[in-house]
Amino acid sequence: MSAASALADDFPALQREGLVYLDSAASAQKPKVVIDAIADTLAHHYANVHRGVYPLAVEATDRFEDSRARIADWLHSEVDETVFTKNVTEAINLVAYAWGRDNVHAGEAIVLSRAEHHSNIVPWQLLCAEVGAQLRYLDLDEEGKISLSQLDEHLADGRVRLVAVFHVSNVLGTINPVAEICERAAAAGAVSLIDGAQAVPQLPVALDQIGADFYAWTGHKLYGPNGIGVLHGRSELLRRMRPFLGGGNMIKQVREESSTFADAPAKFEAGTGPIAEAVGLAAAVDFVRGIGVETIRAHELDLTAYAIERLGEVPGLQIHGPTDAQDRGALISFSLDGVHPHDVAEILGRDGVCVRASHHCAQPLMRHLGIAASVRASFAVHNTRADVDRLVESLLSVIEIFGQA
Ligand SMILES: Cc1ncc(COP(=O)(O)O)c(C=O)c1O
Repeated sequence: MSAASALADDFPALQREGLVYLDSAASAQKPKVVIDAIADTLAHHYANVHRGVYPLAVEATDRFEDSRARIADWLHSEVDETVFTKNVTEAINLVAYAWGRDNVHAGEAIVLSRAEHHSNIVPWQLLCAEVGAQLRYLDLDEEGKISLSQLDEHLADGRVRLVAVFHVSNVLGTINPVAEICERAAAAGAVSLIDGAQAVPQLPVALDQIGADFYAWTGHKLYGPNGIGVLHGRSELLRRMRPFLGGGNMIKQVREESSTFADAPAKFEAGTGPIAEAVGLAAAVDFVRGIGVETIRAHELDLTAYAIERLGEVPGLQIHGPTDAQDRGALISFSLDGVHPHDVAEILGRDGVCVRASHHCAQPLMRHLGIAASVRASFAVHNTRADVDRLVESLLSVIEIFGQA
């Protein structure tokens, strides 16, 4: 995408002199169209939604619901299956609470992979501890890929109620064969949940083809605002689920002793929703749609392949995850012999190169890799090969400082 450097002009934060932003997997920078949509909502179209009957409130409600419709349409989902949450973490907790408490029982099991983000581990640990269920983990091969035959082995005893895995790993970049995983889970009578936090910003995602029972993602990684996430849930499941949080907006009738609840998605959206955030997220969807997610994928694939090649020039650097760029999303985690990831990230930061150094909220995976932390560079629509060159240059200066060359 030769227009990437021109696209960078659309992002006010990227106008800082010398800044190379390679941390979009943590949170993406925001294009001006998203910032403008949020500001315009707050300045000119703001009122609480689903409550007022005066024109400004009706207009705010229409814009909020139109945003939901545009988001659902983009991912081939349905409006009544598209629930706004605070982020993907809350979306997964919603399922663990409102579905899990009634559907996972003592002696049953939940299958995760060893590369899940803590958001897709801890809610299930809490659930299992409460109901007496068991967690089972899918191992990773040398390249960080799961094995479908091990999934089948886990599913074989008929005790698995849920398979919950990432779509794109936030550390290894591995792309899971999610449609296949959901199909195998369904065939064994298990429900599927896919953590799409890293996938939605960079891969074409058609939920009608993936076939997950639940698919969750987060707005701030898709060039949208923070404070909004999305849970897509199969309507038969949402209909049977208990509410998550109680309060305004999620009820039909409240009596002194008990209440009846609204249909989904309102049943799961207690309290005032993320009004300007929803409009901002729909603007982010329009931004991505305008470029074309296939174009974004091709561009980021080129950058990832180029980065894998150029990082090979850095002595003592090991890349974690699949070796072929085709098998991974637009992020690369690596270790540098003898240099702590935090030292690497700090020196890179002084050069204006923003990367993440941490356990990436994936401590079980770090244990599997035998490391405490890693450095992660992640690419977005605005990055260019020149950004990768700056990363490599800066890494070579780290080696000089630490005398490893
Ligand atoms: C794969 C994955 N899952 C979940 C999350 C959590 O996202 P949020 O903090 O927006 O809930 C992240 C973010 O780092 C992620 O990369």
